[in-house]
Amino acid sequence: MKVLIIGGGGREHAITWKVSQSPRVDKIYCAPGNAGIGELAECVDIPVTDHDALAEFALSEGIDLTIVGPDDPLAEGVVDVFEAKGLRIFGPRKNAAVIESSKVFAKNLMVKYNIPTAAFETFDSAGDAMAYLKACKYPVVLKADGLAYGKGVLICNDYDEAVKGVRTIMEEKKFGTAGNRLVIEEYMTGPEVSVLVFSDGTHIAPMTSAQDHKRIFDNDKGPNTGGMGTLSPSPFYTAVIDAYCRKHIYQPAIDAMKAEGREFVGVLFVGLMLTQDGPRVLEFNARFGDPEAQVVLPRLKNDLVEVCEACIDGRLNEIELSFDDNAAVCVILASEGYPEKFEKGYEIQGLENLEGRQDYVVFHAATRKENGRFLTNGGRVLGVTAIGKDLKEARKKAYEGADKIYFKNKYMRRDIGRVIDNL
Ligand code: AMP
Ligand code: GLY
Repeated sequence: MKVLIIGGGGREHAITWKVSQSPRVDKIYCAPGNAGIGELAECVDIPVTDHDALAEFALSEGIDLTIVGPDDPLAEGVVDVFEAKGLRIFGPRKNAAVIESSKVFAKNLMVKYNIPTAAFETFDSAGDAMAYLKACKYPVVLKADGLAYGKGVLICNDYDEAVKGVRTIMEEKKFGTAGNRLVIEEYMTGPEVSVLVFSDGTHIAPMTSAQDHKRIFDNDKGPNTGGMGTLSPSPFYTAVIDAYCRKHIYQPAIDAMKAEGREFVGVLFVGLMLTQDGPRVLEFNARFGDPEAQVVLPRLKNDLVEVCEACIDGRLNEIELSFDDNAAVCVILASEGYPEKFEKGYEIQGLENLEGRQDYVVFHAATRKENGRFLTNGGRVLGVTAIGKDLKEARKKAYEGADKIYFKNKYMRRDIGRVIDNL
């Protein structure tokens, strides 16, 4: 069969790599892809938001299955466009992707269906939000309603900071129309865990857990990024917590979407905080996480194509997911200056050091190829994933691997998996 993957980052490389192992797949296309993906798939130069061109391509090439990576095409309805043309595509429709694209929607859903999350209020005027801040407990969390590349969340330590935050989001519109509405939320503490949950709209199949490291600098300092490294499984996510979350969060969320006439088919990414009072939802996303996919998919034993098809066909209950009994750590190699200003176009050296190794996969996030050489082409450049018998070994190997790759202005966090030392 022929598979098309939409996207061009580390997550899409991980999806492509996993799909390439399916005995059922003869040919993979990726739009737009990147240089790493290009080693496994034919990259097609169509932007992820040009839904009509993507669907035309899928029709003309006879694509049997399309898998969507990023949030924006989902939020803008790529699945609806494909389905209208009779094409098979894995991901939620626009009316279900709203669980990620509107935080106000997600919060109201959780309240209505009793899904544990932080207490909150929503606002559509800056004046009302500022009035509310006067009586708040601090710190407090401000969230722009819409998609903001993971940057629309501000944690404010006092009233003055919070007022500035409201101005930034709602008046200066730093995140554009995403800031038309605002969620003000109670500040919580505890370990954060990401769980990616397959769903066919009725049944759920949660994957193994992961932990992201969102801040740019060591010790969780500096601005948030798309993610600087991940580990899997999370040492905090016990079997008891998993059972609780299946019963009180994952299944109720899928049931709630169905009850609202917004059947959710795809991967529901649940961002959890494990508080003293139990697990609470920080956010829902409507897709695989990045770089979570770079540690979860290498541990997945099932054929990803079969799981996606079972979701589309509403028979996920026939599938039992299983994961390797090892651990994975992914360290992101970025361009110095990310997530702000950075340079690109530098040659990447040393990739051959990890080629052919069973215990390493290097996922490309932003690379291009010129005259046979790989060049940096964005902020997050590569993800070095290492597999070990446990998290300690995986972390050690991930850094050994990351140190074997070189490019000018290479930057990485040195403390991915720091939590392992405090257990
Ligand atoms: P989100 O995009 O909603 O996951 O938020 C981004 C990051 O902000 C999360 O990964 C948390 O580290 C932090 N965060 C979000 N909501 C809260 C909250 N209610 N309390 C504490 N931290 C939060
Ligand atoms: N790693 C966080 C995300 O994919 O949103």
